[in-house]
Amino acid sequence: MRPHVMLSVAVSIDGYIDDASPDRLLLSNAADFDRVDVLRADSDAILIGAETLRRDNPRLLVNSSDRRLQRVAAGKPDYPVRVIVTAGGDLDPELRFWHSGGERLVYTTEAGAARIGDRLSGRAEVVSLGAAIDFAALLDDLGKRGLERLMVEGGGSIHTAFLSGGLVDEIWMAVAPLVVGDPAAPRFLGAADFPGGSNHRMQLADVARIGDIALLHYLPKEDSDVG
Ligand SMILES: NC(=O)c1ccc[n+]([C@@H]2O[C@H](COP(=O)([O-])OP(=O)(O)OC[C@H]3O[C@@H](n4cnc5c(N)ncnc54)[C@H](OP(=O)(O)O)[C@@H]3O)[C@@H](O)[C@H]2O)c1
Repeated sequence: MRPHVMLSVAVSIDGYIDDASPDRLLLSNAADFDRVDVLRADSDAILIGAETLRRDNPRLLVNSSDRRLQRVAAGKPDYPVRVIVTAGGDLDPELRFWHSGGERLVYTTEAGAARIGDRLSGRAEVVSLGAAIDFAALLDDLGKRGLERLMVEGGGSIHTAFLSGGLVDEIWMAVAPLVVGDPAAPRFLGAADFPGGSNHRMQLADVARIGDIALLHYLPKEDSDVG
């Protein structure tokens, strides 16, 4: 059984997920970051691409101690398993990610695994998926580990791979009232063949207001119920 996949993203109103400056652009507000923390706490695993790891140096933790306690009371580890995807294996073992939280997994290629070598030993299990990353095989492997809910946090290449592969069950999109307007900045999705093409209307499950953020909840595998 593959895990249920929740894609989480914050975008500007012109569809960017960051600006082109070295510092990470904060798109969410405090209440929305807390909503993301709830989604993390409800997940068995959280996944990001290696470029987000390199650029943002995130820890990907559940920040609320109450939520961690609730996880433990439910028989889960304090923190979800944290997952990195890299083809090339350029991962710096000094980044904060490797020095906090619980179990870590790295999915990579044969070449990536060779490059990583023993640099992450004791810090992460490195899994080679062959000559290229097969995201369906990645989900199969997570499923075999008993992980039932996967949160995919980006960035754009990773979101594009999951969504174009028809592998996403839910999208949580926070739209921030910002305009980035810089073609050098990363976008939510890149060019790809998405399931059903441009005529497929996915189901809009809910819309909520969180201060100045509009939160959209889509079900990409369901059809819109609007004629
Ligand atoms: N606003 C948000 O919600 C949000 C969330 C997360 C990230 N971000 C932003 O997103 C930006 C990074 O996005 P990004 O698209 O450049 O990078 P990314 O998706 O984070 O990571 C891309 C990397 O993942 C690996 N990868 C991705 N797709 C692959 C595939 N199909 N096959 C093999 N490997 C694959 C490769 O790693 P290797 O290069 O190591 O081979 C690739 O370079 C950052 O600016 C970050 O701040 C925003």
